[in-house]
Parts: sequence; structure tokens; C-alpha cells
Amino acid sequence: MRTAAFAELTGPDGVELLERPDPDPDAGEAVVNVEACSINRHDLWILQGDSAMVDASDLPFVSGLDVAGTVRAVGDGVTGVEPGDRVVLCPNETCGTCRFCREGPENLCENFSLYHGGLAERALVAADRLVSLPDSVDATTAAALPTAYLTAFHMLRRAEVGPNDLVFVPGATGGVGVAGVQLAAVLGARTVGTSSSASKLDRLTELGLDHAVEGTDPDEIRPAVADVGPADAVLNHLGGAYTQLGLDALRRGGRMVVCGRTAGRYSEIDIPDLFLRHKSVVGSTMGTQADLERLVGLVADGRLDPEIDETFPLDSTGAAFRTMRDRESVGKLVVTNETA
Ligand SMILES: NC(=O)c1ccc[n+]([C@@H]2O[C@H](COP(=O)([O-])OP(=O)(O)OC[C@H]3O[C@@H](n4cnc5c(N)ncnc54)[C@H](OP(=O)(O)O)[C@@H]3O)[C@@H](O)[C@H]2O)c1
Ligand SMILES: [Zn+2]
Repeated sequence: MRTAAFAELTGPDGVELLERPDPDPDAGEAVVNVEACSINRHDLWILQGDSAMVDASDLPFVSGLDVAGTVRAVGDGVTGVEPGDRVVLCPNETCGTCRFCREGPENLCENFSLYHGGLAERALVAADRLVSLPDSVDATTAAALPTAYLTAFHMLRRAEVGPNDLVFVPGATGGVGVAGVQLAAVLGARTVGTSSSASKLDRLTELGLDHAVEGTDPDEIRPAVADVGPADAVLNHLGGAYTQLGLDALRRGGRMVVCGRTAGRYSEIDIPDLFLRHKSVVGSTMGTQADLERLVGLVADGRLDPEIDETFPLDSTGAAFRTMRDRESVGKLVVTNETA
């Protein structure tokens, strides 16, 4: 089978189409004909050599978390899915024995890791991580959901967002950002989002963003965000200087949920502002498989329409990463496989 493998960790030019043997499922496993796999900044970190998870000794490395397609084969003991089933993968990898696996939520697993291998014609996965797709949810749409939408959904939960709340999303045009804006609307909340691009904000406004703030410097953005009003919640996937920007936007007692570090892994914050105004900062990673099932249901019910900016054939996976690196897209970028 063909894979879009990371042959070198040098950025998008490091992606190469490489042949690999077709996988065979062992007990508890399934092989999925991959029809679509969306990419995430997580994959780009790996491809740029900026992830502790993958180094030169792992090359060539096949990344890709968000797999959707059709089950091709199953191993012994698999009862939940069978060949021909249409599925999307929950990329959570959990130990099944720690206290969080026992008592939940599973994404807090002490041995949590993520599936990689979807940027290929076929993916070997844990069968019990497959979520069934109704006929009305196509593979490309489903592939948008697992990482970006699941993460944003869990963040909104962590922030206890409810109807009419104001949610601030710095960097609102990417995978997690657009998901946060769309899912906040599903919950009946209002949104304010930022981007360096006026045209991307125009598109996001069409998708439901209530207040758009254009700018590249957090200090310039600050007054325009404050004008919208105090935010009940902030979804922070940027880190860096955007953390204090988010805290400044928060109302007394408001919550900031952090899931990423695109603009920097360290943030300086005003400690008295945090404690005097009773603000919270909480971390969040991914979500639960049950929430992925809920997201599939929202799509099937027509309440959520994940935004896919562009699809790329497997042999153009490098171009997909170039588009992400160059900040040219709104929403998700999906690699599709016509020949699976
Ligand atoms: N913990 C988890 O479970 C989890 C899950 C998913 C993602 N994440 C993290 O969340 C972040 C977003 O992931 P994603 O896949 O949504 O990425 P993405 O689609 O590439 O995000 C693009 C967004 O980030 C903004 N951006 C890019 N570079 C920036 C910079 N240097 N300064 C300020 N803004 C910048 C873009 O702003 P413009 O509109 O101005 O271009 C755009 O709004 C990443 O850090 C990722 O690792 C974490
Ligand atoms: Zn565990």
C-alpha cells in the first residue's frame, strides 16, 4: 500500500510517497481502507522536528490521526465492527487499567497516547476505537471530527459554556478554532475570534462567528476584544502572549481552557489579576470516544457542519502541510484516498 510518510523531519518537503506492506489485523485489531484523513498541527509539529514523540530513529514515520473509511478486515475476537462497515477512528490510545480508564474520563489516562498511521491507503487500528458512521455522514466530513472537534468540544465542557455565554477564541480560523466557534454556537453561546487575515475572518463570520477581530499583535488586539465585552470562557490553543490576552478578556470567575502552544510554550501571566478576579486556567487534551459519537450524531442531525477548506490526494500530502504551515486555510485540511 501507499503511505505519505515523513522521510525527513524538515517540514512539508520531507513528505514522500512510500510503499509499505499491507497490514494484517491481529486479535482485537481492524484494517480500515482509509478514505479520508484530516491533518492537524500536531502532525506538522512532528514533520518539522518539533515534537518529543518522534525523532530521526523513527523515520520513515506515517502520521495521521483522524481516519475515516471502510473496514476491510478484522482480527480474532472482534465483534463490534465487520468488513464493509463505515467508520471513523477515535485516535485515543489508553491503557485500560489506570484509575482514569476505570472511572473516566478516559482522555486523562495516565498512559495516554495517540494513534498515528492514517496518511496511508490502509490503517491498522484497535477495533474498539472505531465509531460507526451513518450513511448521511461522508468520510471526508467524519475525518474532520476526531482531533479538532473533539478537543474543542471537551474544552467547551471544561469551561462550562452555556447559552448566551461569550466565548473568546484567539486564532479562530484553524482546526480547533473553527470547531470552537461552531460548537459554541451549537451550545447557544456567542463568540469573538481573532485572525491575522481579514478574508479568513469574513469566511468565519459566514460560518457563525459573532465578532471578528483582525490583528497579529496581542497588544493591538486587546482593546477590540475588550469592546465586545467580558468573556465567560476562553479557548486557548495558541499559548505564548495569547494567554495573557485571553486572561484580560475573561470576566471575573471566568475560565480559560488551554490545549495548545502554537504561539509559544511559555506564557507570562499577571498573577494578581488571576487571583483577585477568581479566574481559572485549566489544561485539556482531546476528549472521550463517547463525545466523538455525540459529534457524529450532531453532524447526522444537521446541527454541525464541519468546515473543510480543501482536500488533497494522498500524493499531495506535502502540499496540505504547506497550506497549514503558511496559514492559508479556514477549518480543516483533509487528505483523501480515491483508490483505497
Ligand atoms: N491538546 C490537544 O488535545 C490538542 C488537540 C488539537 C490541537 N491541539 C493544539 O492546538 C493548536 C491548534 O491546532 P490546529 O490543528 O487547530 O492548528 P491550525 O489549524 O494550524 O491552527 C491555525 C490557527 O492558528 C493560528 N496561528 C498559527 N500560527 C500562529 C502564530 N504563530 N501566532 C498566532 N496565531 C497563529 C492561525 O491564525 P491566522 O488565522 O492568523 O493564520 C489559525 O487561526 C496546536 O498547538 C495543536 O498542537 C491540541
Ligand atoms: Zn489508563
